[in-house]
Amino acid sequence: MMPAKPPAAPPCTLFLFGASGDLVKRLLMPALYNLSRDGLLDRNLRIVGVDHNRLGREGFVEHLHSFMRERDQGRDCAGKCLDEKLWARLAKRLDYQTGDFLDPATYVALAKRIDATRHGNAIFYLATAPRFFPEVANQLGQAGLLDESGGGFRRLVVEKPFGTDLASAEALNACLLKVMGERQIYRIDHYLGKETVQNILVSRFSNGLFESFWNNHYIDHVQITAAETVGVETRGAFYDSTGALRDMVPNHLFQLLAMVAMEPPAAFAADAVRSEKAKVIGAVRPWSQALALKNSVRGQYGAGKQGRKRLPGYRQEPNVAADSQTETYVAMKVMIDNWRWAGVPFYLRTGKRMSVRDTEIVICFKPAPYAQFRQSALERPKPNYLRIQIQPDEGMAFALQAKRPGPELVVENVELGFAYKDYFNMTPATGYETLIYDCLTGDQTLFQRADNIENGWRAVQPFLDAWAKNGEVHEYSAGQDGPQAADDLLAKDKREWQPLGRRHT
Ligand code: BG6
Repeated sequence: MMPAKPPAAPPCTLFLFGASGDLVKRLLMPALYNLSRDGLLDRNLRIVGVDHNRLGREGFVEHLHSFMRERDQGRDCAGKCLDEKLWARLAKRLDYQTGDFLDPATYVALAKRIDATRHGNAIFYLATAPRFFPEVANQLGQAGLLDESGGGFRRLVVEKPFGTDLASAEALNACLLKVMGERQIYRIDHYLGKETVQNILVSRFSNGLFESFWNNHYIDHVQITAAETVGVETRGAFYDSTGALRDMVPNHLFQLLAMVAMEPPAAFAADAVRSEKAKVIGAVRPWSQALALKNSVRGQYGAGKQGRKRLPGYRQEPNVAADSQTETYVAMKVMIDNWRWAGVPFYLRTGKRMSVRDTEIVICFKPAPYAQFRQSALERPKPNYLRIQIQPDEGMAFALQAKRPGPELVVENVELGFAYKDYFNMTPATGYETLIYDCLTGDQTLFQRADNIENGWRAVQPFLDAWAKNGEVHEYSAGQDGPQAADDLLAKDKREWQPLGRRHT
């Protein structure tokens, strides 16, 4: 993670494979622009786009520039819109290499662009379709571009999806590890670039109070939600063969689970943190297929409404099969078999086209042992909870019971809240700034190690196997918070989902 006043990262040649794709223009370039604005890039950093298109340097620069300009149109950027002078400074560092990822000649051309001005340092960022990951890594290895014996660092950044199940993730890890060492591999999960996600560890491990109740003596259960209002947008073809579970659970939701549930690391260093994360994800109970079915719900959005806007059903989206059985919503219960969490269910849910955008973690505490105020309107006191709001409106809230003013004894639920924007100057960021900076400086803390990824897939594999045989999918209307069956999943345990969309205002 970035220190408070970080120095500029060391120089290197940063190769962006898949340079004409969406990720580079929407997220990576804006993040590099923000890093450059904040003085965090070395003046000798060079960024080389690599793709099969014959864009040329000028074309590449123009392609990015026009996106950065359009991005500002129609949004109130409060004086933080694209600064042309800053852009010109970044544009000077840009270059482009046309090349087929499968052709060894491409790698010969790349080798010529790594030079002593940048101490031989190079980063290869795979912002490509996943089918290219093994081949590009292999070609880089064959061309000697991952060899660090000359003194410069050589690193590979791999985007998600990292595999589509346990076997394919293991195969991809094996393939990468054949041509480079683990410390050269930076597997990205963009959730780890979010400030509020990083803050979970800070909250837990720098507030002595939390540790005393962060266990199965006081916590009844945990809810982790990533609700989105968007549908599958232009990604129908990818999504239809992926589904909500593969897209969000073994990666993003398990990273949130790990942050909440891991043990304190011996040091705040990459391997210590990653070992604790791997341990806790590895402790997720592997359900039998029968229990995986019982403890999960798949949903798919049908036609519906968001406000007054009519929305098509998933099966009517472009490039989605008319009889698709792919889930756009998943809810599941997982248990962590260790000393701290024995008996505490973790309920996870994520879905597209829900009523609100809301990524949050709610730690639900056990109720007070005895209902002191029985004569009051509230027979059973409501349990306390701690809500960690990841996005939007980042913050935290602690729910307590309080007496409503007046002659009657009425107990009500109130929230003590902390909103990030009230305390900190939040400059607009993509979430990729920290991740790119960390990769440039060689800090792997926020990147996934091979065992983290494999443990995540291992935990969800029983769900995938069970669903392959019994693929019941419950419909929910677009604009609603998932199917009834997801409420029933918690009702079986005498619990209910926390309402979505509560805001820190
Ligand atoms: C991506 C998924 O990894 O994360 C998308 O592929 C999803 O389907 C996105 O929309 C959610 O990210 P965020 O940062 O908007 O919560």
